[in-house]
Amino acid sequence: MNKVTASAPGKMILLGEHSVVYGKPAVALAIDRRIKCTVSASSELLVNGRKASGTIAHPHIRSVLKDNGAANVSVDAVTDIPTSSGLGSSAALSASFSLAVRKLFGRETDEESIAADAFNAEYTAQGRASPMDTSVCTHGGGVALNCPIGRHLWTFSKGGNSWDVTEVDVPHMTFVVGYTGIHAPTGPIVERVRKYKEHNRFASDIIDEIGAITLEGVQAMAKNDTEHLGRLMTQNHKLLSILGVSCDQLNKLVNASLPLSYGAKLTGSGGGGSMIALTDQPEKVCEAIALRGGVPMIVHTGIPGVRLEE
Ligand code: PMV
Repeated sequence: MNKVTASAPGKMILLGEHSVVYGKPAVALAIDRRIKCTVSASSELLVNGRKASGTIAHPHIRSVLKDNGAANVSVDAVTDIPTSSGLGSSAALSASFSLAVRKLFGRETDEESIAADAFNAEYTAQGRASPMDTSVCTHGGGVALNCPIGRHLWTFSKGGNSWDVTEVDVPHMTFVVGYTGIHAPTGPIVERVRKYKEHNRFASDIIDEIGAITLEGVQAMAKNDTEHLGRLMTQNHKLLSILGVSCDQLNKLVNASLPLSYGAKLTGSGGGGSMIALTDQPEKVCEAIALRGGVPMIVHTGIPGVRLEE
């Protein structure tokens, strides 16, 4: 085999971003936007036909290669997940690249090994991370972290925290994503929250509160109680705003969606990126988001995880 193509979905975080970095509960869902990676043998590291410069460019790709005892491949990536949008573009890249590299070099291609490679890549690139994005982009569907519900997938530990990852059933729900168009890399925002938490007891209380809301939300989702779940999403957004990770444009899109939705919140690390609304009026929410300058997309859940492509 001299060329392998694999794909992985993007994701949205339903509840619990940021607090999950400290081992609190979270839930994330795969969405119907994917990245596709084609990998072939090469004597130098080529990314989309270009020679990778220096040793720090493409940290996710380099980390996955290192974990698989390789240094050079040629990788071509095609994606419909906007980068730094809070929709899991780097996690999907890491997971699809891991599967393609593992297949190319004849290594194990089980989900846990791929999720471990991808988590390592994300952790290295961000300086600190949870395995949430990489687990859901690998497994697909819905995953919960540190929630006493669902089928056990794997447990990962790093930096003094441990995450038990489970697969959860996702009832049929309609979400609209609103992308602010603001490019917001995850690492610096995660670092800002770390400093806030280190110097302020109040930040730790907010993180605990987000954890409690998330647990309640997982129960609401299991009972298919959309109204309750929506209220908790909006509450989660307020707490994330207090934590300092929202921004004017995210608040504008959340507020525009709320009268037409069960709930709305930022999704991902914030500072820009995207928000999500849980609604049964998706077209109207799309209009409201577009009117405030956001890029709306209706997303579907129940999406398969990482897989080989023809
Ligand atoms: O913005 P994203 O898609 O990279 O999401 C990051 C989620 C955080 O909880 C902020 C970080 C993490 O690693 O869990």
